[in-house]
Amino acid sequence: MPKMPKNKPDQQTLDQQSPIYAKLFDIYTQFRNNYRGSLASYIPELASANPDLFGITIATVDGKIYEIGDTRHPFTIQSISKVFLYGLALSDLGAEEVLKHVGVEPSGDFFNSIIFNETDKRPFNPMVNAGAIATTALIKGDSYNDRQSRILAMLGRFAGHPLTIDQKVFESEKSTGHRNRAIAYLELSSGMINEPISEHLNLYFMQCSTLVNARDLAIMAATLANHGTNPLTGEQAQESEHIRRMLSVMQSCGMYNFSGEWSYRIGLPAKSGVSGGIIAVVPGLLGIGIYSPLVDDLGNSIRGIQVCEALSKNFHLHMFDMQQPINLIIRRFYTNSQIQSKRQRNKQELEILDKVNHKIHVYELQGDLFFNSVEQLCRKLTEKHEQESHIILDVRSIDQIETSILPLLTSLREILLANQKHLFIAGKFSKLYEVFYKSLAWPKDAFFDTVEDALEWCENYLLAAHSIPSKKTEKMPLEEIDITTNLSKSELKVLRSMITEIHYAAGETIIKEGFPPSELFMLAAGVASIHFQPTSSASRKRIGALSPGITFGELCLFNGGKRTASVIAESESICYVLPITKFEKLAKTHSSLHSKLLINVGQVLSDRIRHINEELKILSS
Ligand code: DON
Repeated sequence: MPKMPKNKPDQQTLDQQSPIYAKLFDIYTQFRNNYRGSLASYIPELASANPDLFGITIATVDGKIYEIGDTRHPFTIQSISKVFLYGLALSDLGAEEVLKHVGVEPSGDFFNSIIFNETDKRPFNPMVNAGAIATTALIKGDSYNDRQSRILAMLGRFAGHPLTIDQKVFESEKSTGHRNRAIAYLELSSGMINEPISEHLNLYFMQCSTLVNARDLAIMAATLANHGTNPLTGEQAQESEHIRRMLSVMQSCGMYNFSGEWSYRIGLPAKSGVSGGIIAVVPGLLGIGIYSPLVDDLGNSIRGIQVCEALSKNFHLHMFDMQQPINLIIRRFYTNSQIQSKRQRNKQELEILDKVNHKIHVYELQGDLFFNSVEQLCRKLTEKHEQESHIILDVRSIDQIETSILPLLTSLREILLANQKHLFIAGKFSKLYEVFYKSLAWPKDAFFDTVEDALEWCENYLLAAHSIPSKKTEKMPLEEIDITTNLSKSELKVLRSMITEIHYAAGETIIKEGFPPSELFMLAAGVASIHFQPTSSASRKRIGALSPGITFGELCLFNGGKRTASVIAESESICYVLPITKFEKLAKTHSSLHSKLLINVGQVLSDRIRHINEELKILSS
């Protein structure tokens, strides 16, 4: 990006007027005129860099880039490549094997020191030259070219595009890198690495001579912050299991013998290169890439350190100062006495449920399932709640899941079960289902597609436990149906003469959505469920169910519109069916019966509306 227009804020795009840009601009101008330090000259080609150059880029893990100054100016990556080479060695050989060849202890010395950990016979860490040469020697490949292209491809995955070598810097390093040669041969003589030494050295010089810019560095750092996935390309640049190892050595050794002070002042895993680049990582949030070629005696960019310190301070990024967001896992809690399933229950069922529905508890969860949220949940559910017997976790609003902590939930389920409490997961969440069901061997019946389904199952369980079978097959007499309340014996007789009794097999359609209504139905036996066809999906949705004693299809008494949903016999069912034409005739022949029926239907409907309003109150609180 061109330099930020300093004097013409009116020409900035709205994006560049964002508070983040404003702060970056402040920081950039604050250090712009600091010309302390010098250009690295022990690699002759680096001494020709322009000391004016200064660029800062921040890349977030969701791919937003903030950049200011010379962020597109190419320079050689130098020691920053050491982090990524270490990652490649970890992928090639695994952590245990790599540890045998390179340690992870800070050396407390200069980056090019000729010192080794004599006890363990290995270089101190992969961030200093001795360690990086040993790491490079571990990189697999059939030939020099093969190994070179594997290294370049890996660096390119982190940057998000193919990278090239600066041949001049490469030749300059090759012809003057005597100290690195000395290190490599000493390592060979003590058995730390094997031949071919000149090939390993050339690969080492080559990776240091890879061209990047400050923007590339920020994206590479953001890829580290994003568990190894490049936020711009979406490509997995590195297995996530090794990222914490790479960040750990950056944290303890990335800034050489300045690492302790860096950690104290800035508190972020970082890595510098002698050409003036620095990367810093805020894990889970963002990557920072800076270029300013004036370096201090330790080989770290002076403006780079200043910028990182200012960013850490202004944006509160120090690792030990970050306020972990408290992820409140429980969004809402209610019991079945406050919200019932979508099963319309008859009087007898309601009387029993009234006494026991406080035993069914629903926890609506939100956010991410990580240690802190799962710990909160375990604490809440193992607190003494003498009352509950069924606990439903509504997981529809769960986002991220840290699968390694899920065994805690399995153990929670077992503890609850031992205390006669049943735990269920409601809300189809395939990832969670896969993990629980397949890996953790939770029984299939612990899962429900919806909270309503889970509630209905638990209600049925409690009803059955109180000796009311949920799928009653004997026929409920007409006088117990909800809309026949207050009818006299003679009125019941008239009504009985007008209805037909129809039997339905399980799965048979009783009412079809979209069809014109012509009958009023009263369920006398079995269970019927209500479905509708969402316009957005091919499969129909079960939105409720009916118990014996419940009238349905009653809206046809008030308007001639089409059926708004289908009703299907879920088990073998019996209905009392009253044709609308016969009902209408009642107005003339038995006007008192006609109006009693209408009043009773009105009563049923107003009960349902009152019930829905109660539910809305709870759900909107
Ligand atoms: O081997 C060297 O000395 C250089 N290619 C890399 C050194 C480096 O970047 C040290 N960093 N500050």
